[in-house]
Amino acid sequence: LWLMAAMAFLGYVLGSVPFGLILTNLAGAGDLRKIGSGNIGATNVLRTGRKDLAAATLGLDAAKGLLAVLIAWIMTPPDFADRITSVTALAVVVGHCYPIFLGFKGGKGVATGLGAMLALSPLTGLAGCAAWLGVARLTRISSAGAIAAFIVMPVVNWALYGFSFQASPKPMATLLISILVLARHHANIGRILNGTEPRVAPKQK
Ligand code: G3P
Repeated sequence: LWLMAAMAFLGYVLGSVPFGLILTNLAGAGDLRKIGSGNIGATNVLRTGRKDLAAATLGLDAAKGLLAVLIAWIMTPPDFADRITSVTALAVVVGHCYPIFLGFKGGKGVATGLGAMLALSPLTGLAGCAAWLGVARLTRISSAGAIAAFIVMPVVNWALYGFSFQASPKPMATLLISILVLARHHANIGRILNGTEPRVAPKQK
Protein backbone atom coordinates (compact mmCIF):
# COMPACT_ATOMS: atom_id res chain seq x y z
CA LEU A 1 0.00 0.00 0.00
CA TRP A 2 2.81 2.45 0.78
CA LEU A 3 4.21 1.82 -2.69
CA MET A 4 0.83 2.64 -4.21
CA ALA A 5 0.67 5.87 -2.20
CA ALA A 6 4.25 6.74 -3.16
CA MET A 7 3.61 6.15 -6.86
CA ALA A 8 0.32 8.07 -6.75
CA PHE A 9 2.16 10.97 -5.11
CA LEU A 10 4.94 10.83 -7.69
CA GLY A 11 2.37 10.74 -10.50
CA TYR A 12 0.49 13.66 -9.04
CA VAL A 13 3.62 15.81 -8.62
CA LEU A 14 4.94 14.91 -12.08
CA GLY A 15 1.51 15.64 -13.56
CA SER A 16 1.54 19.02 -11.83
CA VAL A 17 4.48 20.28 -13.90
CA PRO A 18 2.87 22.73 -16.38
CA PHE A 19 5.16 22.46 -19.41
CA GLY A 20 2.98 24.76 -21.53
CA LEU A 21 3.34 27.61 -19.04
CA ILE A 22 7.03 26.92 -18.43
CA LEU A 23 7.91 26.91 -22.13
CA THR A 24 5.88 29.98 -23.07
CA ASN A 25 7.28 31.88 -20.08
CA LEU A 26 10.85 30.90 -20.91
CA ALA A 27 10.37 31.86 -24.56
CA GLY A 28 8.58 35.09 -23.69
CA ALA A 29 5.69 33.99 -25.88
CA GLY A 30 3.08 35.73 -23.76
CA ASP A 31 0.82 34.81 -20.86
CA LEU A 32 -1.07 31.62 -21.73
CA ARG A 33 -3.64 32.40 -19.08
CA LYS A 34 -4.64 35.55 -21.00
CA ILE A 35 -4.59 34.03 -24.50
CA GLY A 36 -7.32 32.03 -26.25
CA SER A 37 -9.05 29.68 -23.84
CA GLY A 38 -6.60 30.52 -21.03
CA ASN A 39 -5.72 26.83 -20.86
CA ILE A 40 -2.16 25.62 -20.21
CA GLY A 41 -2.18 22.89 -22.88
CA ALA A 42 -0.60 22.51 -26.29
CA THR A 43 -3.71 23.68 -28.16
CA ASN A 44 -3.60 27.03 -26.41
CA VAL A 45 0.17 27.30 -26.80
CA LEU A 46 -0.49 27.00 -30.55
CA ARG A 47 -2.63 30.15 -30.26
CA THR A 48 0.50 32.12 -29.31
CA GLY A 49 1.67 31.41 -32.86
CA ARG A 50 4.58 29.26 -31.69
CA LYS A 51 4.11 25.85 -33.33
CA ASP A 52 7.44 24.64 -31.98
CA LEU A 53 6.43 25.40 -28.40
CA ALA A 54 3.02 23.79 -28.94
CA ALA A 55 4.64 20.61 -30.23
CA ALA A 56 7.08 20.61 -27.32
CA THR A 57 4.22 21.11 -24.85
CA LEU A 58 2.29 18.24 -26.39
CA GLY A 59 5.38 16.02 -26.27
CA LEU A 60 6.42 16.90 -22.73
CA ASP A 61 2.90 16.75 -21.26
CA ALA A 62 2.44 13.34 -22.89
CA ALA A 63 5.91 12.25 -21.74
CA LYS A 64 5.18 13.03 -18.09
CA GLY A 65 2.06 10.85 -18.29
CA LEU A 66 3.95 8.03 -19.93
CA LEU A 67 6.93 8.34 -17.61
CA ALA A 68 4.86 8.29 -14.41
CA VAL A 69 3.17 5.03 -15.40
CA LEU A 70 6.44 3.54 -16.61
CA ILE A 71 8.21 4.37 -13.35
CA ALA A 72 5.34 2.80 -11.39
CA TRP A 73 5.55 -0.30 -13.56
CA ILE A 74 9.31 -0.65 -13.05
CA MET A 75 9.09 -0.07 -9.28
CA THR A 76 6.23 -2.47 -8.65
CA PRO A 77 6.32 -6.25 -8.14
CA PRO A 78 4.34 -7.99 -10.91
CA ASP A 79 1.48 -9.02 -8.59
CA PHE A 80 0.59 -5.39 -7.89
CA ALA A 81 1.68 -3.80 -11.15
CA ASP A 82 -1.79 -3.49 -12.70
CA ARG A 83 -3.31 -1.85 -9.67
CA ILE A 84 -0.44 0.52 -8.97
CA THR A 85 0.06 1.59 -12.59
CA SER A 86 -3.71 2.18 -12.86
CA VAL A 87 -3.72 4.44 -9.81
CA THR A 88 -0.59 6.24 -11.04
CA ALA A 89 -2.17 6.88 -14.46
CA LEU A 90 -5.15 8.49 -12.79
CA ALA A 91 -2.89 10.46 -10.42
CA VAL A 92 -0.76 11.96 -13.18
CA VAL A 93 -3.86 13.22 -15.04
CA VAL A 94 -5.30 14.62 -11.80
CA GLY A 95 -1.93 16.34 -11.27
CA HIS A 96 -2.12 17.99 -14.69
CA CYS A 97 -5.74 19.09 -14.15
CA TYR A 98 -5.31 20.23 -10.53
CA PRO A 99 -1.61 21.04 -10.17
CA ILE A 100 -0.16 21.74 -6.77
CA PHE A 101 2.13 24.37 -8.33
CA LEU A 102 -0.70 26.45 -9.83
CA GLY A 103 -3.15 26.61 -6.96
CA PHE A 104 -4.90 23.54 -8.43
CA LYS A 105 -5.92 25.44 -11.58
CA GLY A 106 -4.53 23.32 -14.37
CA GLY A 107 -5.24 21.89 -17.76
CA LYS A 108 -7.62 19.47 -19.40
CA GLY A 109 -5.50 16.33 -19.31
CA VAL A 110 -5.54 15.41 -22.99
CA ALA A 111 -1.83 15.01 -23.76
CA THR A 112 -1.05 13.71 -20.27
CA GLY A 113 -3.96 11.26 -20.42
CA LEU A 114 -2.91 9.98 -23.85
CA GLY A 115 0.67 9.50 -22.59
CA ALA A 116 -0.48 7.70 -19.47
CA MET A 117 -2.80 5.46 -21.49
CA LEU A 118 -0.04 4.59 -23.97
CA ALA A 119 1.96 3.26 -21.04
CA LEU A 120 -0.95 1.62 -19.21
CA SER A 121 -2.39 -0.07 -22.29
CA PRO A 122 -0.54 0.67 -25.55
CA LEU A 123 -3.41 -0.56 -27.73
CA THR A 124 -5.91 1.64 -25.90
CA GLY A 125 -3.53 4.60 -26.08
CA LEU A 126 -2.98 4.10 -29.80
CA ALA A 127 -6.73 3.89 -30.40
CA GLY A 128 -7.10 7.13 -28.44
CA CYS A 129 -4.36 8.85 -30.45
CA ALA A 130 -5.95 7.69 -33.70
CA ALA A 131 -9.38 8.98 -32.67
CA TRP A 132 -7.86 12.26 -31.49
CA LEU A 133 -5.86 12.87 -34.66
CA GLY A 134 -8.64 11.66 -36.95
CA VAL A 135 -11.43 13.74 -35.46
CA ALA A 136 -9.21 16.81 -34.90
CA ARG A 137 -8.10 16.66 -38.54
CA LEU A 138 -11.63 16.20 -39.81
CA THR A 139 -13.22 18.95 -37.73
CA ARG A 140 -10.12 21.11 -37.18
CA ILE A 141 -11.38 21.41 -33.61
CA SER A 142 -8.75 20.21 -31.15
CA SER A 143 -11.19 19.70 -28.30
CA ALA A 144 -13.49 17.59 -30.53
CA GLY A 145 -10.59 15.22 -31.17
CA ALA A 146 -9.88 15.08 -27.46
CA ILE A 147 -13.50 14.33 -26.60
CA ALA A 148 -13.62 11.54 -29.19
CA ALA A 149 -10.39 10.01 -27.87
CA PHE A 150 -11.58 9.91 -24.28
CA ILE A 151 -14.89 8.33 -25.32
CA VAL A 152 -13.13 5.71 -27.43
CA MET A 153 -10.52 4.68 -24.86
CA PRO A 154 -12.74 3.33 -22.06
CA VAL A 155 -14.68 1.32 -24.66
CA VAL A 156 -11.50 -0.13 -26.17
CA ASN A 157 -10.08 -0.88 -22.73
CA TRP A 158 -13.23 -2.69 -21.67
CA ALA A 159 -13.11 -4.72 -24.85
CA LEU A 160 -9.51 -5.67 -24.04
CA TYR A 161 -9.78 -6.38 -20.32
CA GLY A 162 -13.45 -7.04 -19.60
CA PHE A 163 -15.79 -5.45 -17.10
CA SER A 164 -14.61 -7.18 -13.98
CA PHE A 165 -12.56 -5.05 -11.61
CA GLN A 166 -11.24 -8.30 -10.15
CA ALA A 167 -9.81 -9.26 -13.53
CA SER A 168 -8.21 -5.89 -14.19
CA PRO A 169 -8.41 -2.41 -12.67
CA LYS A 170 -7.40 -0.81 -15.96
CA PRO A 171 -10.90 -0.25 -17.42
CA MET A 172 -11.97 1.49 -14.21
CA ALA A 173 -8.89 3.73 -14.29
CA THR A 174 -9.48 4.47 -17.97
CA LEU A 175 -13.12 5.35 -17.29
CA LEU A 176 -12.21 7.66 -14.38
CA ILE A 177 -9.53 9.40 -16.46
CA SER A 178 -12.04 9.87 -19.28
CA ILE A 179 -14.72 11.24 -16.95
CA LEU A 180 -12.19 13.74 -15.59
CA VAL A 181 -10.94 14.82 -19.02
CA LEU A 182 -14.49 15.12 -20.43
CA ALA A 183 -15.61 17.09 -17.38
CA ARG A 184 -12.68 19.47 -17.91
CA HIS A 185 -14.03 20.05 -21.42
CA HIS A 186 -17.49 21.18 -20.35
CA ALA A 187 -16.90 24.72 -21.65
CA ASN A 188 -15.53 23.32 -24.94
CA ILE A 189 -18.55 21.02 -25.28
CA GLY A 190 -20.87 24.02 -24.81
CA ARG A 191 -18.98 25.97 -27.48
CA ILE A 192 -19.01 23.04 -29.90
CA LEU A 193 -22.78 22.70 -29.45
CA ASN A 194 -23.44 26.37 -30.16
CA GLY A 195 -20.89 26.48 -32.94
CA THR A 196 -18.44 28.92 -31.38
CA GLU A 197 -15.52 26.59 -30.64
CA PRO A 198 -12.49 27.98 -32.52
CA ARG A 199 -10.87 25.88 -35.21
CA VAL A 200 -7.20 25.28 -35.65
CA ALA A 201 -5.87 26.96 -38.80
CA PRO A 202 -5.28 24.51 -41.65
CA LYS A 203 -1.68 23.60 -42.40
CA GLN A 204 0.18 26.20 -44.45
CA LYS A 205 1.54 24.73 -47.64
O1 G3P B 1 -7.40 19.32 -26.47
C1 G3P B 1 -7.00 20.37 -25.63
C2 G3P B 1 -8.08 21.04 -25.73
O2 G3P B 1 -9.04 19.96 -25.74
C3 G3P B 1 -8.81 22.19 -25.69
O3 G3P B 1 -8.01 23.25 -25.38
O4 G3P B 1 -7.42 25.56 -25.28
O5 G3P B 1 -9.13 24.77 -26.95
O6 G3P B 1 -9.69 24.80 -24.52
P1 G3P B 1 -8.59 24.68 -25.52
